[in-house]
Amino acid sequence: MTNLKNVNIAPSNNAPIGIFDSGVGGLSIAKCISEQLPHEGLIYVADTLHAPYGEKSIDFIIERVNTIAHRLVKQGVKVLVIACNTATVNAISQLREQLSIPIIGVEPAIKPAALQSESKKVAVLVTQATSENSQFKSLITKHQNGAQVFIQPCPGLVEKIEQGLSDSHCCDQLLRRYLLPLIAQKVDRIVLGCTHYPFLQQQIKRIIEEEKASISLVETALPVTLQLISQLEKHNLSAAKSTIGTRQFYSSKNTNIQQELFTKLWQNPLTLQSF
Ligand code: DGL
Repeated sequence: MTNLKNVNIAPSNNAPIGIFDSGVGGLSIAKCISEQLPHEGLIYVADTLHAPYGEKSIDFIIERVNTIAHRLVKQGVKVLVIACNTATVNAISQLREQLSIPIIGVEPAIKPAALQSESKKVAVLVTQATSENSQFKSLITKHQNGAQVFIQPCPGLVEKIEQGLSDSHCCDQLLRRYLLPLIAQKVDRIVLGCTHYPFLQQQIKRIIEEEKASISLVETALPVTLQLISQLEKHNLSAAKSTIGTRQFYSSKNTNIQQELFTKLWQNPLTLQSF
């Protein structure tokens, strides 16, 4: 793999922003970016063929992140957003050593959740790979601010979302298995520590309501977008506000089912291209 750190690539302000995830989860971040920055061009890549990352080895995740990031850099992106908690905690540091463009990652929002919690009990829903990652564990120790943090790995949820089965009985069963013990512990904040999970917000809220619990969900789309804006400003990379940014969507598994799922989650017509 070429190291692009010292290669003289100077992206222009009109270059697009590259955003990627293992699948459709990162659309929860991309949507917020698109709303806040309509003048910026976006290229979104879903590595659907290799999802879920959360059940893969660290080496595999690093290899996929490097492959996608290098291809996006060759396509001329000016900034990269790793819209995936699993890829961020496992691969962002080594990627930053290879690339000279700004790279923004996504980490579970433990800090605001712990600060806001009144019961001082907070849960974080994550993939298996995130739950085992030492950087993730350090993040909790650093930001728990006296709160007890319950780590809940949620294998199976990403697959249900990728299969368009968010409203299915089996997805509901999985959610109950993960949420009911946390509700019993009286947590009052649940951090959505995987970018796929905001697409289950309605289903999660329904279970919380049925259990008559009072729990707020905490996600990261807006803080990540604000971080992106500050990096664009810092590096003088913002596009002119008069521009209308294009949106391009790619998947490593470009099927009709994926096209439908993307359109449903993006809530706007789009054309999915093969990556
Ligand atoms: N959406 C991703 C995350 O935030 C990855 C999920 C997966 O592929 O397991 O962790």
